[in-house]
Amino acid sequence: MVVNMGIIGLGYWGPNAVRNLYANRRCFIKWCCDLRQERLDHIKEIYPAVQVTRDANVLFEDKDLDAIVISTPVSSHYTLVKQSLTKLKHVLVEKPISTESKLIEELIALAEDKKKVLMVDHTFLYSSPVKKMKELINQNYLGEIHTIDIQRLNLGIFQKDINVIWDLAPHDISILLHILEKKPISVMTFGDAHIQKLVEDSCYVYLNYSGGVTAHLHLSWLSPRKIRQFTVIGSEKMLFYDDVEPAEKIKIYDKGVSLKKEHGSPTHKYCDTFDEHVSYRLGDIFIPVLDLYEPLGSVCREFIGCIEELRKPLSDGSFGKEVVEIIEAAQTSLKAGGKKIYL
Ligand SMILES: NC(=O)c1ccc[n+]([C@@H]2O[C@H](COP(=O)([O-])OP(=O)(O)OC[C@H]3O[C@@H](n4cnc5c(N)ncnc54)[C@H](O)[C@@H]3O)[C@@H](O)[C@H]2O)c1
Repeated sequence: MVVNMGIIGLGYWGPNAVRNLYANRRCFIKWCCDLRQERLDHIKEIYPAVQVTRDANVLFEDKDLDAIVISTPVSSHYTLVKQSLTKLKHVLVEKPISTESKLIEELIALAEDKKKVLMVDHTFLYSSPVKKMKELINQNYLGEIHTIDIQRLNLGIFQKDINVIWDLAPHDISILLHILEKKPISVMTFGDAHIQKLVEDSCYVYLNYSGGVTAHLHLSWLSPRKIRQFTVIGSEKMLFYDDVEPAEKIKIYDKGVSLKKEHGSPTHKYCDTFDEHVSYRLGDIFIPVLDLYEPLGSVCREFIGCIEELRKPLSDGSFGKEVVEIIEAAQTSLKAGGKKIYL
């Protein structure tokens, strides 16, 4: 079976999907669609055989088209996903699926009803560093997770319809949901708009999980350097993941801290008397070998596999909705000046 595919939205990200799908023999790109003629001309120049249109209805009405990839701005996702599912197309939609979890519920029900795949492109779930982090956490290699610190900073790209949280946090919230396998209990967010009025471009999100686990995100479009870093602090080891690093993306430090009585054995978790002191463990650094590939290629393979086998993807509509629920709470906190919001 070859899946006939259409792609809507050929701005910054869409052409990456086109490139990956074009290279995949299990699908055929039947249509590329964008409102802007210059983006269609750009695609036509690289892939002369691909049919292009400015009208998405052409894709919805094509009875031979099996699936649609939606890579348009977030505000248009809900309508385009709904139209695609209604016309019996499988859907891969960019993150976040919507900014309203109530609307996502409707799309999930529609996909169930029409027996179609609804997948959200939470790209990092399919990347080898994130798979390795999950594997190590599941094996308890890092010990008990204390805290995770995340920085996702760059100069832009400024979005017109969403703030920096809706743009960047879907990546980190989806990774946290995937590796910790639980939602936070509460969230607090602080942020500011420096360039566009009322569009926050620099934010801090604090997440509290059960078991005393915490995570902190710094998200910004106003940084001179591109930084994509994760630091996971475990009771046994510490992991540093730098996605900008070309090869050695993950480093595991055999470093740690424990509390000891003045002349005794390790004691309980918190230091409460002066006869206890902190001892530091400084061990080796381990760099796991990662199978490096383009995660979006893996996303496309998963989407096609789900269509072929009519199964649910790892990042299905329900996963996408959980991500959005957490960001909705972060957004509520931001608007309330950093108030703690319980999920
Ligand atoms: N997974 C990732 O790592 C990743 C990275 C970047 C962007 N994204 C996501 O991709 C999506 C698109 O982002 P972008 O930066 O490419 O945006 P963009 O503004 O550069 O491109 C969007 C394109 O969609 C077109 N468009 C809008 N409405 C349309 C419609 N109704 N019919 C046809 N074309 C339409 C626009 O003309 C534009 O060319 C967003 O959801 C964003 O969050 C994901």
